Amino acid sequence: MSTYPNAAATTVSDCADPACTAPLPVLGRDVTVPLVTGGEVTYAALDYAASAPALQRVWDDVAAYAPYYGSVHRGAGYLSQLSTDLFEQSRATVAEFLDCRPSDQVIFTRSTTDSLNLLAAALPAGCQVFVFETEHHASLLPWGDAQVTYLDAPRTPAQAVEILERALAGRDPQGPALVCVTGASNVTGELWPVKELAAAAHAHGARIVLDAAQLAPHHPVSVQELDVDWVAFSGHKLYAPFGSGVLAGRADWLQQAEPYLAGGGASRKVARREDGGVDVEWHTTAARHEAGSPNVIGVYSIASACKALAEAGFEDLVARERHLIAKVRAGLAQVPAVRILSLFGDDAPRVGVISFVVEGWNSSHFAAALSAEYGIGVRDGLFCAHPLVRTLLGSEPQAQGECGAPEAAPGDLSLNAIRVSFGAGTPDEHVDRFVGAVRELVSSGAKWQYRTEDGRCVPAV
Ligand SMILES: Cc1ncc(COP(=O)(O)O)c(C=O)c1O
Repeated sequence: MSTYPNAAATTVSDCADPACTAPLPVLGRDVTVPLVTGGEVTYAALDYAASAPALQRVWDDVAAYAPYYGSVHRGAGYLSQLSTDLFEQSRATVAEFLDCRPSDQVIFTRSTTDSLNLLAAALPAGCQVFVFETEHHASLLPWGDAQVTYLDAPRTPAQAVEILERALAGRDPQGPALVCVTGASNVTGELWPVKELAAAAHAHGARIVLDAAQLAPHHPVSVQELDVDWVAFSGHKLYAPFGSGVLAGRADWLQQAEPYLAGGGASRKVARREDGGVDVEWHTTAARHEAGSPNVIGVYSIASACKALAEAGFEDLVARERHLIAKVRAGLAQVPAVRILSLFGDDAPRVGVISFVVEGWNSSHFAAALSAEYGIGVRDGLFCAHPLVRTLLGSEPQAQGECGAPEAAPGDLSLNAIRVSFGAGTPDEHVDRFVGAVRELVSSGAKWQYRTEDGRCVPAV
């Protein structure tokens, strides 16, 4: 029941020859890092799900614009006019990238977290919120005083739709309600049946917001095709790490809400009243929620990334990523001590985000060894999705053992997980090195001693 045309299950043969697109040039691809065992290697950035490196194209566009930087929406000078044009053109570029409806608003924020908090602040009175427990905390937590229903973790995409249908069935369809759902999990990388969930939400008079933080960098997102009401994503996961994010979608709730931030730019007219107070007329456009001087460089960098990805072509990007996913999964499958975390099973369509645990290893120790001995940057922990990772690990996380202490007995699974993630800038060598390192660490152990410092494993010397 996949919503995504290119999201078939992965096989190694998907992209076995160099005809697959080359990785897109990103910053930092030649950076070398020291190894504890001696020498240096090029850094293998395999933590794209946290923050992806900037596309070279984005960096070049920002550098070309930087000398022309000027105030936005408030200056009479040439560079102010130019910057304002660029800012507003960026809005149009993002709307096009997301295939928004003509009536939608694109609001620039700081991040996905900021976008979802903005939407939460704009919920109509009495709004019910429905959210799966499997969500990232950015989707799980911002709903404040709203009546929130947390939905159990589904084990198939079809079950996700059933669970939502059941939860919505009893509600009064006249009252406002919002469903919040991720497009791709930041833990398992698995794609969620967004179009089907949107249909279920709408059938029960609810609206839906798509958390596309992990989806937009990997797949085309069409607001119209998925029929979602809002989409949120972050620039720093979309190869544009300059501090901006996006909330795009229906204008009505946003126009009726109090401004997210009060201040200049959001207000159209402010006047003293006779009683000594002030009357404020707020904008009803996107500006209503963008008070203060906007981050024009951040916004322009997102637009640049949107253009770069669209021009590279998602079909090729997806094909290349499927090839990398297949390589990593096939490599990990050959290491019996590794257990990949999954809600929807091996055949589920997914993006390049894979979490796993290694029997007998403390995850922080394993991640530290990948970094210190192989120059590979991954993440370990619970990935700001504690309920989901606990469900997948099947246990409550407890304090992990000292990383310098003898490793847990075989059969004990580490209570945090390790996450490897990659994308448009990842060369094959990085994932090959990662798979080789996992194999070697499991078969031969770490070459170095590690100790615990502030709850994390670090090389002992
Ligand atoms: C699925 C998902 N949603 C939301 C967020 C929050 O993004 P940000 O930290 O950019 O606000 C993340 C970050 O990892 C994420 O993976």
